[in-house]
Amino acid sequence: MKHADTPSSAALFKRACRVMPGGVNSPVRAFKAVGGTPVFIERGRGSRIYSADGRELIDFCGSWGPLILGHAHNKVVEAVRMAAAKGLSFGACTRAEVELAELLRARIPYLEMVRLVNSGTEAIMTAIRLARGFTGRKKILKFDGGYHGHMDCLLVSAGSGLLTSGIASSAGVPEGVVADVLVAPYNDLDAVALLMKKYSHDVAAIIVEPVAGNMGLVPPVPGFLEGLRKLTADKGALLIFDEVITGFRLGPTTYGVLCGIKPDLTCLGKIIGGGMPMGAVGGLAEIMKRLAPLGAVYQAGTLSGNPVAVAAGLSTLKVLIAENPYAAIARRAKKVSDWFENRMFSKRLKAHCANIGGMFTIFFCERGVRNLADAKRCDTRRYARYFHGMLERGIYLPPSQFEVCFISAAHTDEDIDCFLGATGEILPGNASR
Ligand SMILES: Cc1ncc(COP(=O)(O)O)c(C=O)c1O
Repeated sequence: MKHADTPSSAALFKRACRVMPGGVNSPVRAFKAVGGTPVFIERGRGSRIYSADGRELIDFCGSWGPLILGHAHNKVVEAVRMAAAKGLSFGACTRAEVELAELLRARIPYLEMVRLVNSGTEAIMTAIRLARGFTGRKKILKFDGGYHGHMDCLLVSAGSGLLTSGIASSAGVPEGVVADVLVAPYNDLDAVALLMKKYSHDVAAIIVEPVAGNMGLVPPVPGFLEGLRKLTADKGALLIFDEVITGFRLGPTTYGVLCGIKPDLTCLGKIIGGGMPMGAVGGLAEIMKRLAPLGAVYQAGTLSGNPVAVAAGLSTLKVLIAENPYAAIARRAKKVSDWFENRMFSKRLKAHCANIGGMFTIFFCERGVRNLADAKRCDTRRYARYFHGMLERGIYLPPSQFEVCFISAAHTDEDIDCFLGATGEILPGNASR
């Protein structure tokens, strides 16, 4: 129920636009890709969020990934409450941060040492500097449509918000900063091999989302990640897995552990902060020891290892390990994907569902999205209509075709039935819609 004294989303957005660029603190929230007014959220509980307009929505965005346990999970909230009562920040060492680092190491054996930071972007920034410092080389190879946060040098053909805004890169990034960044199509090992041959001993690292999540969901084709591992090892470059989305998303560990490929450095974020600002970079001790104060690669942070964020992350990971909800989450996502497989696609609708574990994307194009160029063939206007149709029916999706839907441990079979029921009403198998 909307209270009479609560401003509506439209009224709040109008106010926000006066004092915040685009009315938002992160571009994709502005609904530019789907049109309309962003929904302002008052609170969340389990699989539901409640808007300023008094609406209850089933949330498939999950704060863009961190909320694998759903909103306001009792144990996480209690851990945060207890930590906050003891002090919000010390800028000094705490036992909890050691516990979190130990837990990460226990779940990810190749993460021999870890540094906690405040966001995924910071983790990536640190990993890139570390890779350059360790190898003494300058060039970084990334993939088109791979998003690694908003650090200058990786805003080259970046996906996510940048993609939907229709800009290939960002203003304000000097040419020199991106001059040492090579860009290859995702899933294209031949292109990588070519670049690695050409720049042979100049490449410090390849950075990759092992499962791409910022051009919509695009899993790696068989052999792709293995090939990257081999090419980097052969050329003395580091392999960096950006697991900011996939860390603890597909199992109580990283995707690297699950698929048996050992990167040199791993970046984490989202879930390991349980909904609080948190990131981490970790990997082989030999490399991590190059970080200050042991080594010459500088990195620091006033709020790094913040006790409240650490409490949220630790409690989230402990619940995930104790309850192991991954099979149930994956089963629910598969129900969505099977539904598309059996129904929409068989009716020759140009839409399909990419799925892995509890992650999925409804692509409005034919099957076989392997990289950004494929994803760009999607009918984004149809996605926008689908998005608003779902919103009208009480389902909150990411406001862009090029993002991932997340299922949490709090989603129920009924939530999935609601999702499919609404989808069925909007997409009745008519390709012209
Ligand atoms: C794969 C990936 N890496 C890095 C980031 C940046 O993380 P943050 O937004 O916490 O800075 C994101 C954000 O969505 C991401 O999806």
